[in-house]
Amino acid sequence: MKKEKMQNTSKSDNKVYLGTNTKMYKSIAQTVSFLQALEALVEDIKEEMLELFVIPSFTALEAADTCISKGLIKLGAQNMCWEEQGQFTGEISPLMLKEVGTRIIELGHSERRHTFGETDEMIHKKVHCALNQDFTSLLCIGDTKAEKECHIASEVLRIQLKKALFGVPEDKFGNIWVAYEPAWAIGAEGVPADSEWIALQHQVIRDTLISIFGKERGIAVPILYGGSVNQNNAEDIITLPNTDGLFIGRSAWDADKFAEIIRKVIHVKNYRQNTVETVKNMGLH
Ligand code: PGA
Repeated sequence: MKKEKMQNTSKSDNKVYLGTNTKMYKSIAQTVSFLQALEALVEDIKEEMLELFVIPSFTALEAADTCISKGLIKLGAQNMCWEEQGQFTGEISPLMLKEVGTRIIELGHSERRHTFGETDEMIHKKVHCALNQDFTSLLCIGDTKAEKECHIASEVLRIQLKKALFGVPEDKFGNIWVAYEPAWAIGAEGVPADSEWIALQHQVIRDTLISIFGKERGIAVPILYGGSVNQNNAEDIITLPNTDGLFIGRSAWDADKFAEIIRKVIHVKNYRQNTVETVKNMGLH
C-alpha cells in the first residue's frame, strides 16, 4: 500500500481548482488515453496555479494511477464506504482506494443522493471516514428544482453542509473542498445556473463554512461550482466571488476541450489577480 503523505489542500489565492468526474462513461482504456492526453496538454502549467483532478470509475483507478506521473493531476474516487472493512457487499473501502493511489474522495454527488438514495447522515459518515483516512473530501451539495422553486435552496445547502461537516476535527479542516452543484443544472437535461444565482449560493456556502469553522478557516475552504460548465461560461463563472474552482462533467471528457477550459480559466484568474495587485500597489483600493 502506498504510504504517500497526504497534504493539507486548503486553497491559496492564486490557485484554481479544476476537475472532472467521468461518471459511468469511460472504460479503463479510455481513461488511460484521456489522462495521458491531458497530462501532455497541461505539462507546462505550474502546480502553484492549478489543482487539477480527475475522478474516473473505480475499475480504472489502478491503471490511471500507473499511466500518469505523480505530477499535476490528482486522482479521486466517485464514492466510498464509511467503514474500512466488513459485511458491505458492493462497497469500496477507503483502504482499497489508498492502494490504488486515490487522493480525493467525491462524496454526496447529486446522482448519489437522488438516484441512489444517499442521505445526509450517510454522507456525514463518509466525509468523516475520508478525512480520518487523510483523503481530501470533495463534498458535493446542491438543491433540487423543487427546492429551488419553493425558495428553500439556501436552507437546503446550509443543512447539507452542517450535517455533513458536523464534528469534523480541527486538524482536518484543511482537507475539505466543497462543490456546489444544483441538481437542476447537471447533465444533458440541465439548465445552467446564472451568475447571480451562483454568486448568491456561494455566499451562503461561505457564510455557513465560516459559521462552522470560524472566519480564517471558513474562508480557506475552496468552493467549486459544477453543473453544465463549458468552454463558453467557465471564464464568467470562475470570476464570481467565492468561486475557487469548477467541477466539470461532459465538457471536460475530451482532453483537448478540458485543456482549453483550464487555460482560459487560469488566464482570466491571473489577469484578475494582477489587476487587484496593481490597484493595491498604486494605493487605489
Ligand atoms: P455536467 O456534470 O458538467 O455534465 O453538467 C456536472 C457534474 O455532474 O458534476
